[in-house]
Order: sequence, then C-alpha cells, then structure tokens
Amino acid sequence: MIGRLNHVAIAVPDLEAAAATYRDTLGAKVSAPVDLPDHGVTTVFVELPNTKIELLLPLGDNSPIAKFLEKNASGGMHHVCYEVEDILAARDKLVEQGARILGDGEPKIGAHGKPVLFLHPKDFSGTLVEIEQV
Ligand code: CO
Repeated sequence: MIGRLNHVAIAVPDLEAAAATYRDTLGAKVSAPVDLPDHGVTTVFVELPNTKIELLLPLGDNSPIAKFLEKNASGGMHHVCYEVEDILAARDKLVEQGARILGDGEPKIGAHGKPVLFLHPKDFSGTLVEIEQV
C-alpha cells in the first residue's frame, strides 16, 4: 500500500541553526523558512536526491510540536511520511487492520497542498506516521 518515503520531519528548537547545519555542514539544498499557520509550524524544506527532510519549529500557541520539544529539548525525529495513491482507500484498509487514525479521521490538506492523515505511533513501532496522497 505505501509507496515512496516522501519526507522525514525533525522538530527543532532553533530553525536557523538547524538549517545552517543541513546547508553548511551537510551540504544540502535548504529552502527559506515557510510559515504554515494552519499547521502550527514554520518549516525549512531540505531537498535530498531521494526524499526530503522537513525541519519544524513551533508557530503559534497550539503548535502540535510544542509538547514534543518540551520532552525533547534539543529536537528529534517527529514523523515519517509515506506516499499513498488513494488516501481514503488507505485509511479504510488501515482501520480495517486495527490501526488508529489521529484526529477526526478525515484527511486534511498538508504542508504540500495534498491530503494527509496521521496514524497513531503506538500502532507503528513508536513512530508517528503521516500518509500523503500524491
Ligand atoms: Co509531514
């Protein structure tokens, strides 16, 4: 069901420092910071030949990653995103298999303008999984 790894998201306490690490130390192509108020994050996109890394900084009061950073002060891997062809078919199949979908179970438009859902980390080896229809 799942296809390519679309991105790995890393929560960071200092976006400029993290962007500089990827740009200068690792020699990757990094975007300017992009505010995504609907998602409660400011993001820097790191483009790799085979996938993307998204550096996430909390934005606003109800950021979904603020709590994560409280527990992981120096930052850490927040989620992985896998591509699916049909997000509703994928969701129905996952629910049928006993996986839990976060939120109301309806896809939302994600950071790339495409429908996404998040799956409960306890069902996936302790890793928050995002699926994105491409
Ligand atoms: Co994501």
